[in-house]
Amino acid sequence: MSEIEVRTAEAAEFEAVGAVFGGAMMFEPTPDDLGRQLFEPERTLVATDDGRIVGTTRALTRDLSVPGAVVDAAHVTGVGVRATHRRRGVMSRLIGQQLRDVPEAIAVLWASEPAIYGRFGYAAAAWGTAYEVDLHRVGPPDGPIRPGELGELTVEEALKELPTLLRRAQEQRPGVSGRSELLWQKHLQDKPDDRGGRTARQILVHRDEAGSIDGYALWRGKMNWIPTGPANEVQVEELVAPDATAYRALWQHLLTMDLSAKLGYGYGAVDEPLLQLVRTPTALDRRVGESLWVRVTDVPQALQQRRYAVPVEVVLDVTDALIESNNGRFRLTADASSVSCERTDAAADLSLSVAELGAAYLGGRQLAEFAATGRVVEQTPGALGRATAAFGWPVAPVSVEIF
Ligand SMILES: CC(C)(COP(=O)(O)OP(=O)(O)OC[C@H]1O[C@@H](n2cnc3c(N)ncnc32)[C@H](O)[C@@H]1OP(=O)(O)O)[C@@H](O)C(=O)NCCC(=O)NCCS
Repeated sequence: MSEIEVRTAEAAEFEAVGAVFGGAMMFEPTPDDLGRQLFEPERTLVATDDGRIVGTTRALTRDLSVPGAVVDAAHVTGVGVRATHRRRGVMSRLIGQQLRDVPEAIAVLWASEPAIYGRFGYAAAAWGTAYEVDLHRVGPPDGPIRPGELGELTVEEALKELPTLLRRAQEQRPGVSGRSELLWQKHLQDKPDDRGGRTARQILVHRDEAGSIDGYALWRGKMNWIPTGPANEVQVEELVAPDATAYRALWQHLLTMDLSAKLGYGYGAVDEPLLQLVRTPTALDRRVGESLWVRVTDVPQALQQRRYAVPVEVVLDVTDALIESNNGRFRLTADASSVSCERTDAAADLSLSVAELGAAYLGGRQLAEFAATGRVVEQTPGALGRATAAFGWPVAPVSVEIF
């Protein structure tokens, strides 16, 4: 069998890396200048066989909202192995090295298949809800819409106005990834080939009484005429409205589009407030799936950089099969104003692996959930309840974008 080597990519390998990932995912990559500028070769690993790239993984430099903070998180993407080289441990080598290399205390990703990443200590940390809404039944939010309250922006205007709103959304909800200016440009790119028969992207905004934009929705329509008449489809790609009035007005507008029968939205949280606004919540067909997966790569740093719902002092005995320095006991102490997490010789209150820490990291899954399967073991009576309450968060995490 040939010898596989793993190394850091070079800038000139942008196309080759894209081709391996595109081949693995079965899409035709369309490399462009923005993609090239966003390529971080020094944060990309390639596996080569006889000099030819056969496997890739990339880490993007981005931040992420976590309970009470916005932190650096390695955004892992582009994981692909040529079909001719599958099941020979190529991905395992790439992901193992990547997790040991990344300087951030956590790595996050969207998984194409849930069976892939658990073995590397990743865990689903946020659930996402995909909605398909029957617009004839839903009973949209009502209330008058003030003239001038809603409007549309060009891409150039949106690039100036929308970043602030996403940052405000990060302050409200864990799981939301930040976007640099380049990432915003990429996000708002609207290549006709990528529209899948839908209209160009509409950038809908809501303005408060002073005229400031306090919410936006990115959406597209698709004409559909059936024998009984129009049954158009509305696809909402992103809706960010930190302000409650904006949130209601944007949904009211989108749920009442003329000629339309169906609305799709793929990035709802499990506690999405939309359910409170409609008269018939059962007209929103809901499918819950994994949203963001989290891998804690540096236990003390990761636990120190988020906040906790209630004060806590707990000694965690952590195991990690990939990153040696994460093994051992750590005392986590947190109150309203400070958090510390340090190595200790004290007896453990809870035993768990790094995967359960990842699952609970965004506040969306309970540590206690894992006691039932023995993945978290309570060593000190009462510690599980206290730690579960502290790791929880009042707002469910969700990622609003597949990266
Ligand atoms: C998923 C993928 C990267 C795996 O690469 P690979 O080099 O074959 O993986 P490895 O050989 O290192 O596999 C390690 C283990 O994971 C398992 N595994 C790999 N891919 C899996 C999958 N899709 N589902 C379930 N298990 C999988 C292997 O069976 C192996 O298990 P074992 O250790 O018990 O034998 C590759 O198959 C691929 O490119 N798939 C299509 C693209 C894709 O889904 N990428 C992920 C994007 S998030």
